[in-house]
Amino acid sequence: MDSGHAKIEKNIGLLAVLVAVAVSLGGLAEIVPLMFQAEAIQPAPGVKPYPALELAGRDVYVREGCYNCHSQMVRTLRFETERYGHYSLAGESVYDRPFQWGSKRTGPDLARVGGRYSDDWHRVHMIDPRAVVPESNMPGFPWLAENAVDGASVTRRMKALQRLGDPYSDEEIQASAAAVAGKSELDAMVAYLQGLGRYAPKGN
Ligand code: HEC
Repeated sequence: MDSGHAKIEKNIGLLAVLVAVAVSLGGLAEIVPLMFQAEAIQPAPGVKPYPALELAGRDVYVREGCYNCHSQMVRTLRFETERYGHYSLAGESVYDRPFQWGSKRTGPDLARVGGRYSDDWHRVHMIDPRAVVPESNMPGFPWLAENAVDGASVTRRMKALQRLGDPYSDEEIQASAAAVAGKSELDAMVAYLQGLGRYAPKGN
């Protein structure tokens, strides 16, 4: 007589179903508590939604697929915190829709890149990375300097985010088109990059 265990191992269909059940239960045990845990769903102290220009830059970041090579999540490992700074907290990215954590790192993590370089460095680097980092294999994005930011679309987007619960004031939304007037997508991208890590806890 086969034991119950042997029966399961010999029946591939049943084994597959039971494996799926076991993996789902394990997943739920990890995921469900996070949905209710305050520190994972509430903004970390001081965290505010992106100002208009940075929001526009974030959209360009998503459109250009920067996340295909860059993560924005410093993990809780010593070699990561020594390289990038304090590990990322969920409460830092509550206003990121969609979040840009990722795990693909052809280039470095960008969660703490704000303030690491000058605006000018970023401008040159975005247009032609090899002008400042000769061994870089990052592509250039020269068209960002030529594309203007569309104020009306930034305003619409802020309104949508406000409806989703982001605490934008009506004044901020009204002023948003003026805040991005005359700015290029490159200006917006640099503003966005320089703001990354602004709310990081100090120290490692
Ligand atoms: C094909 C992969 C790839 C893509 C796509 C890519 N990058 Fe990079 N990026 C890299 C690599 C590799 C480096 C490291 C070499 C360098 O500094 O150029 C880098 C470096 C950087 C740095 C400097 C980070 C640091 O700490 O030194 C920034 C900022 C950056 N990328 C921003 C962007 C932005 C914004 C986009 C999208 C518009 C983008 N990257 C798209 C590969 C990529």
